Amino acid sequence: MLQRKDLLGLKDLSAEEIYGILDVAREMKRQLDCKKTERILADKALVTLFYENSTRTRSSFELAAKYLGASVVNISVATSSVQKGETLIDTGKNLDAMKVDFIVIRHQMAGAPKLLAENVGASVLNGGDGMHEHPTQALLDMCTLREKLGKIEGLKVAILGDIKHSRVAMSNLFGLKKLGAEVYMYAPATMMPKEIERLGAHVCKSREEAIEGADAVMGLRIQLERQNGGLFPSLSEYSRYYGVNDGLLKYAKKNVLILHPGPVNRGVELTPQVIDGEKSVILEQVTYGVAVRMALLKLFNEYRENNL
Ligand code: CP
Repeated sequence: MLQRKDLLGLKDLSAEEIYGILDVAREMKRQLDCKKTERILADKALVTLFYENSTRTRSSFELAAKYLGASVVNISVATSSVQKGETLIDTGKNLDAMKVDFIVIRHQMAGAPKLLAENVGASVLNGGDGMHEHPTQALLDMCTLREKLGKIEGLKVAILGDIKHSRVAMSNLFGLKKLGAEVYMYAPATMMPKEIERLGAHVCKSREEAIEGADAVMGLRIQLERQNGGLFPSLSEYSRYYGVNDGLLKYAKKNVLILHPGPVNRGVELTPQVIDGEKSVILEQVTYGVAVRMALLKLFNEYRENNL
């Protein structure tokens, strides 16, 4: 079904490929729920190579691989030979030499997964690169929307927060547009990239405009690690003027879903009442994340067995 060795971003994927992944993820979620997963990756090996911190993406890939029977090694860049000056390509070639099948990489530099993919035989899965893309996060977001709302085509999805520094926003914009959803965005002017409208987003002048009639509202974390500060006066003012609270949700559809990729800054982009409220599907996103990553490993394994 997937005719590619690597997953670098959703910009490259067709709607058919995305639906193919979401269909397999549905079956994987069923297997996860009854704790009966197929050991289709026995004798396969996956390495996680994270140059940035992670809780969800790294552990979710590890569990997905282990549920399917693969061996998993996590390389902590802080204690690896990267600290002695080893390059990304040399690190990848050494993993290839150990007969690794999948490398999941997170890197602060946009394009690092592509560079790695061009130089190794293993399948490279992008776990987030700089401000570029975070494709598995957007796939799990779309999986959550589809399973909870029954479809993606025609949905209004509002994305609020630090759009400019967010690879999650970029991947969701590419993916949601391909599947026929409309994406409305709101952020402080200092956190809204100028070119985003050209990519198909509706840029809003207020939170109310973004949330009006929305089927789903996604909050984004302020990416302090990717900015130099000075983009908003204080966290309390950010929360007051740009955050999402229960009062704003009255503008959305009655059954609106609240999403967030995590980690959440409680009380900044979303109030605790919104995070923990009945409309929130933030923890369900995490479960769908494991199912989506299981689906990707199954599909890329099939590609490798048929083509490499
Ligand atoms: N959503 C996400 O990427 O979370 P982590 O940074 O914990 O992996």
